[in-house]
Amino acid sequence: MIDCRVCGTALKPFMSFGNMPVANGFLLPENYSDEYFYEMATAFCPECGMFQIVEIPAPEQMFHENYAFFTRTSRAMVAHFAEYAAWVRDTYLDADDPFVVEIGSNDGAMLENFAKTGMRHLGVEPSANVAAESERHGVKAMVAFFGAETARRVREEQGPASVILAANVICHIPTINDIAAGIAELLDERGVFVFEEPYLGAMIEKCSYDQIYDEHVFIFSARSVQNAFGRHGLELVNVLPQKTHGGSMRYVLARKGAREVSPAVAELLAVEDGQGLGRAETYEVFRGRCEENRDALVRTIRDLRAGGKRVAGYAATSKSTTVLNYCGLGPDDIEFISDTTPIKQNTFTPGTHIPVKAHEHFKSGYPDYAVLFAWNHEAEIMANEGEFAASGGKWIRFVPKVSVT
Ligand code: TMP
Ligand code: ZN
Repeated sequence: MIDCRVCGTALKPFMSFGNMPVANGFLLPENYSDEYFYEMATAFCPECGMFQIVEIPAPEQMFHENYAFFTRTSRAMVAHFAEYAAWVRDTYLDADDPFVVEIGSNDGAMLENFAKTGMRHLGVEPSANVAAESERHGVKAMVAFFGAETARRVREEQGPASVILAANVICHIPTINDIAAGIAELLDERGVFVFEEPYLGAMIEKCSYDQIYDEHVFIFSARSVQNAFGRHGLELVNVLPQKTHGGSMRYVLARKGAREVSPAVAELLAVEDGQGLGRAETYEVFRGRCEENRDALVRTIRDLRAGGKRVAGYAATSKSTTVLNYCGLGPDDIEFISDTTPIKQNTFTPGTHIPVKAHEHFKSGYPDYAVLFAWNHEAEIMANEGEFAASGGKWIRFVPKVSVT
C-alpha cells in the first residue's frame, strides 16, 4: 500500500513491471555490479483520479550533472516548442513587460523563443549540464528543483510570472503538492500555468505502457490535473490534445475565476468518463493488454533470432528501458541499439546491457529487423530511413500492437 501523492488516499498497486533500473541510466560494464534497481509498480487513485508509480528512485539518481536527455536532439521537438511558444504568446501573453518562467528548461529549446525577443525569462532546471547548454543559447537558467521555496525566491528577486511553462516535466516530480503551491505562489493575478505531458487517455488507448518509467511518476488526465491543482486555488481553463510523445495533453491553469474556462475542459472530462479513466477495472484490463503485448514482442523477436535474423533497436529512448526490462530482452535478442545522442553512444542499456551505437553503425551494416523504440517520432524516422526499408530492412513495432512490416 502507498498513499496517493496528491490526496493521501491509501492505494493498492494494480500492476508490477518487475525490477527496473533508472530509465536514463546508460552505463559501462564496470558499473554493472552497483547498478540501481527499484520495483516499478503502478497504482490508480479512485479519489482524485491520479495514475502514479508506487516507488521511484531518489530524484538525484535521475536529474544530475550528467542528465542524458537534450531536447535539441529532436528537430521535431524543437519545431514543436517554437509553435508552443508562439501559441502561448498569442493566446495568453497580455501583460506589460511580461515575465516567462519555465520549469525544467533543459537546454533552452523552448525559452529561446522568448529570450530571442528580449523578453524577461528564467529557466529553472535541476540538471547542471543541460542548464549550461541553455546559457549558450542566450537562455538564463537557475540550477534548482522547482517548488514553493524556489518560487518564493524567484518572485522576491524578479516579480510574479505572467506565464509559467513546462513540457514533459511536471509528471517527473513526485512532490506535486509542492509544485502546485510554488505555481500558486509565483503566478501573477492573471498569470497562466501552461504545461504538456504524456496523456493517460492516449496511453490506455494505445497500450503504450512504455510511457511508464521512473521519470514519469504521474500520467495525467484532465480529471487528475483539475483535482491536483484545484487543491491550491488553481483552475483548469483549457486543454489541447497534442501529437507529441505519442499522445500528450496541454493543460492551461489560472487562479480560480481569473480566466474564462473553455468548453473544451468539460468536453474532455466527458470523454475521459466515457473511456472509463476513473474506474479501477480499466486498469485491470490495461494490465492484461500489457502482458499480451509483451508476450507477442518477445515471441516475434525470438522467432526471428531462431531463424538467424539480425535484430537491432532504433533509438535508445527512456521508454525502451521499460520495454526491454519488462520483456526481459537482452543482447542475445537485440544486437545493438542505434542512437544519435553522443553521450549514450558506446554505453549499454540500463538493466539489459545491450550496446548503444552511433547511428553510423546502423547505416553501415543494416540489420534485418529494427525495433522502433522511438515510435513517437515515427514520421521523422521514416522520412530519414527510406534506405533501410529499400534495402530489405523491416520495422518491428509494438504500439499499439506488435507488427512487422
Ligand atoms: P526519448 O524518447 O527518451 O525522449 O529519447 C529519444 C532518443 O531517441 C534520443 O536518445 C535520441 C534518439 N533518437 C534517435 O536516435 N534517432 C531519431 O531519429 C530520433 C527521433 C531519436
Ligand atoms: Zn489521490
